[in-house]
Amino acid sequence: MATVSPLNSAAETRLSFSVNGRSVSLSVSPAERLSRALRESLGLTGTKIGCDAGDCGACTVLLDGQPVCACLVAAGQAEGREVTTVEGLADRAPLFGRLQDSFLRHGAAQCGICTPGMLISATALLERNTTPSENEVMDAIGGVLCRCTGYRKIITAVQEASANECAEPSPSAGHAVGTRLVRLDGKHKVQGIEIFGADEIPAGTLLVRAVRSPFDRASFIFGDLDAFVVAHPGVHRVFTAKDIPGRNCYGVIPRFADQPVFAESEARFRGEAVAAVVGDAGVIEALDLADFPVSWSALPALAEIDQALAPDAALVHNNREGNVLVRGRVVRGDVDKALAAADVVVEDSYETGFVEHACIEPEAGFARRVGNQIEIQACTQSPYMDRDDIAKILAIPPEAVRIIPTAVGGGFGTKLDLSVQPFVALAAWHLGQPVRMVYTRHESIMSTTKRHAARMRMRAGASRDGKITAVDFTADFNTGAYSSWGPTVTARVPVHASGPYVVPHYRALTRAVHTHLVPAGAFRGFGVPQTAIAQEQLYDDLADKLGIDRLEFRILNALTNETPTVTGQVLGAGVGIRACLEALRPRWKAARAESSVFSANARGPLRRGVGIAGMWYGCGNTSLPNPSTIRVGLEADGRIALHQGAVDIGQGSNTIVTQICADALGAPIDRFDLVSGDTAITPDCGKTSASRQTFVTGKAAHMAGSELRRAIVRWAGCCDCASITFGEGWVNVTEGEKQQTIHLRDLPRDERGYVLAREATFDPPTSPLDENGQGIPYAVFGFGAHLAEIEVDIELGTVRVLKITAAHDVGRAINPTLIEGQIEGGAAQGLGMALMEEFFPGKGENLHDYLIPSAGDMPPVESILIEDPSPIGPFGAKGIGEQAVIPTAPAILNAIHDATGVRIRRIPATPDRVRAAILAAQREGQHA
Ligand code: FES
Ligand code: FES
Repeated sequence: MATVSPLNSAAETRLSFSVNGRSVSLSVSPAERLSRALRESLGLTGTKIGCDAGDCGACTVLLDGQPVCACLVAAGQAEGREVTTVEGLADRAPLFGRLQDSFLRHGAAQCGICTPGMLISATALLERNTTPSENEVMDAIGGVLCRCTGYRKIITAVQEASANECAEPSPSAGHAVGTRLVRLDGKHKVQGIEIFGADEIPAGTLLVRAVRSPFDRASFIFGDLDAFVVAHPGVHRVFTAKDIPGRNCYGVIPRFADQPVFAESEARFRGEAVAAVVGDAGVIEALDLADFPVSWSALPALAEIDQALAPDAALVHNNREGNVLVRGRVVRGDVDKALAAADVVVEDSYETGFVEHACIEPEAGFARRVGNQIEIQACTQSPYMDRDDIAKILAIPPEAVRIIPTAVGGGFGTKLDLSVQPFVALAAWHLGQPVRMVYTRHESIMSTTKRHAARMRMRAGASRDGKITAVDFTADFNTGAYSSWGPTVTARVPVHASGPYVVPHYRALTRAVHTHLVPAGAFRGFGVPQTAIAQEQLYDDLADKLGIDRLEFRILNALTNETPTVTGQVLGAGVGIRACLEALRPRWKAARAESSVFSANARGPLRRGVGIAGMWYGCGNTSLPNPSTIRVGLEADGRIALHQGAVDIGQGSNTIVTQICADALGAPIDRFDLVSGDTAITPDCGKTSASRQTFVTGKAAHMAGSELRRAIVRWAGCCDCASITFGEGWVNVTEGEKQQTIHLRDLPRDERGYVLAREATFDPPTSPLDENGQGIPYAVFGFGAHLAEIEVDIELGTVRVLKITAAHDVGRAINPTLIEGQIEGGAAQGLGMALMEEFFPGKGENLHDYLIPSAGDMPPVESILIEDPSPIGPFGAKGIGEQAVIPTAPAILNAIHDATGVRIRRIPATPDRVRAAILAAQREGQHA
C-alpha cells in the first residue's frame, strides 16, 4: 500500500518544516491544508479528517507545541516550524506511554477515530500540568468531538495518566468473563495506526466523486457526458445508471429494496446521486461539479408526514399506496373498553425531529478488481449484506465480492447501509484500476440515513391502585425517500411502546411514511428512543394524576418473569427492570430532596429537577432469523484462531466475543489470535446492530469454544469434566489421575491449517408475530432505567444536566469497562437528542450548525450494572449498545417538567422551546 500524491497540485512550492522531529521538504501548494499534506504527502494518517472545517478536532496536531486543527492551517504556515502528530508522540516517553496505558485501562478509546486528537490535546495539557483538574481536562479536549464515549472515561484517563497504575493482569484460563480486560484491538487505536476507511489505498488509485441532486425532488437530463470527459484531462470516465451491469437497486431488507445507485430520471431527495466522475485524484478533487452537464427541473416535493398522507399527494413510489411504506401493529385485549373503565386517563402528543449520526469518520473506502472478483475495503457495519448487494449491482456471484471492513470511526446504524461501496465497486470494475471515495462532511450529512422523525400520540389509563390498565399508541415515522430500515422501525416500535411494564390492554399502530427527504434508517434503538420519549413522559403524568411517586409507579407496574409482555410473551427469567428501578431508589430519594430544597430557596432563575425513565429492548431482529457463525481453530503451535465476522465498531465485540470463547474453551485469552470481519476468511456473523453481537455472536462463540473443548477431551479419551492446559505446540488433558499430552505439531492439518477446528451457528429462538402482533419477537430483552438531575435557567430556557445515574440489566457483565463505555456513550447521545440535536434537511449540513455534545456538556454518569442472567445468552449475557441511549432523553425531559412544571412535547428541548413553554405556562398561571 502507498499513499497518493498531493490532491491539490496547483501552484506547488517547496516547503520545509519539521514533523515529529524530522526535517521534511514537500512540494505542495502553500494553501494546501496541513492535515491533507500530512496524510497524503507524508503518509501520517494518524491525523484524521472529520470535517475540514475546524469543528471536530480529529485533525489536531501540535504546531510549535500548541494544539491546532491541522485542517485550518495552510501548509505554508508550517514553514520553518515544528509539527507533532500522534505518530510522533511516541518520542515523548514516559508521559505519552502512561497516557496511552491510561486510555486503554479506562476504556477511553472506543472506535478510536477521535483518539489521536484527544491524545494530542491531552499531551499538550499534561506537559504543562501533570495533575489537571476535571475542568482543565475538559477545557483541553473541548475542541475534539467524540461520538462514542460520552467523554467521561477520556477525562478520567487524562487525569489518571500520572497515576502509576497497571492494567489488570491477563486473566487465567476460565476467568476472562467478568474482568475489565483491556480491549484487544486497543493498541493500534492509541498509537494512531488503526486503519480507517480513508487511511489506506493502493498505489495509482483513482478518485470518484458523486454528482448529487441539489433539489428535494427533481427530474434531470444529462448533457454531453463524453464531451465533459474530453474537456477535462485527468477525468477518466463518467458513470450513470446506464453503466450498471446488474440491478440499479439496493436495500438492507431485500423485500423492500428500492434505492438506486444512480437516480434514473427523477431524484427523490436532495443529495441523491445521479452520476459519478472518476479520474486522477488531484483533478477530481479540484473539479467544480457546477460545470457538470446536467439540467435539473425542480418538482414539488413532500417534506412533511401530513403532506405525504394527503389523498391528493403525489406518490414517491408508484407501488406504495398513500406513500405508506409499511405498517406495524400490536394489539392485545380490549383497549377501548379498558380505557373507558379506567379510573384515570392521560393523553398527549409528542414530536421528534431527524437526528444525524454524526460519526466522526465520514464514509470512505476503496475497491479494486482482481480478475473477475471485486474487493472492497471500506468502513461498514454489515460486510455480508454489502457483499450481497454489490453482487446484484455488478451482476456477479456473491462469492466474487470480497468485503474487507476497515476500522469503523463510529457507526450507530448509519454504516449498515451502503454508501461509497457501489460507486467504488462500479468504477473499479469497469476501469480495472483501484478507485477510492471519501465523503466530505457535507456529503455525509446530506446523503446518509438519519434517525426517523416521529409524530406520536398516546393515551394511557390506570386503576386507582396505580396499575396501568390500557395503552393506546399511534406513531407515524417520516422515513424519507427510500425504505432503508423503515420496516424495522415500524415493526419494532409497537412491540416496545408499552415500555417494560405490564399493560393488559394495548394497541400500538405505526406507519412509515415516504417523503422527498433523505432516507431515515437505523440509529441506535431503531425507533424505540423516540417511543420512550412519549411513553415515559406520559407515565409520569399518569403517576402524578394518581398521586403516586413516579419511581414507585414504575416499580409497581414493572414486568416480571411471569407477566406477559404486550405480545403475550412470558420471558420466564431474566426480567431485570424491577431490580434496575430499585437500584435507583436511594439516589432518586436523595436527589429529589436536594432539588426541592434548592428550588424552594432559589432566588435567581435557576431551578433544579429530577427525572426518571425506564426502558426495555429486544436483542436482535424482530421475529426474523439473524444467525451468527463462529469458527475456532487450534493451530499446530498451540495458538487458537478465532474467526469472528462481527465488525467491532467501537463497542468492543472483538474483546467480548473472545472473552466468551476463551472461557467456554477453557483457554487463556492471550493464546487467541483474532481473525475479524473479512468475508473471504470469516463466517457470517450478521450485522453489527440491534444489540445482537454480545448475545448472538457471543452465543455462537460460546458454542464453538465448548465444541472445540469437547473435541479435545474426546481426542484424549477423557470425559467433559477433564481440564485442559495449552502450551507451545501441545495440549494437556487431565482427568483425575489420568493425564495425556497431545503433541499438536505431529498431527495432520485441515484445509485451513488447523489441527482441530469447530464451527457453530446460533440463531435466537423467536416466532413470527400473528396479525395482532402476538408471538415471540425476541429471545432476550435488556432492561434499564436512567435518572437525570438537571438545572434549568427559567429566564434563558437553558438546561444543564448535572448527573445521570444509569442502571442496566446486562444479564452478565462480560467486560464491565466496555459496558460502562456503552452506557456513557449512549447517555451522551440521549442527552444530545433531548437538548440539542435536530437535523433539518437542506440546512446546517456541517458540524458547526448541527451540534452534538462536547466534553463540557457531559455530566458524570454513574453506571449500575444489574446481572439478572438470560437463560439463553452466553454466560447469561444480554446486549447493551442500543439500550443505553433509550432512557436518557425521557429522563431529562421528565426532569425539566419536575423543575419547571412544563412539558416539552417537541424535542430537542432547545432554549427557545423551553423558554416558550415556560412563558406559556406563566401566562396560564401554572408552575415556573
Ligand atoms: S477535520 Fe479539522 S477540525 Fe474536523
Ligand atoms: S471513540 Fe471517540 S469518536 Fe469514537
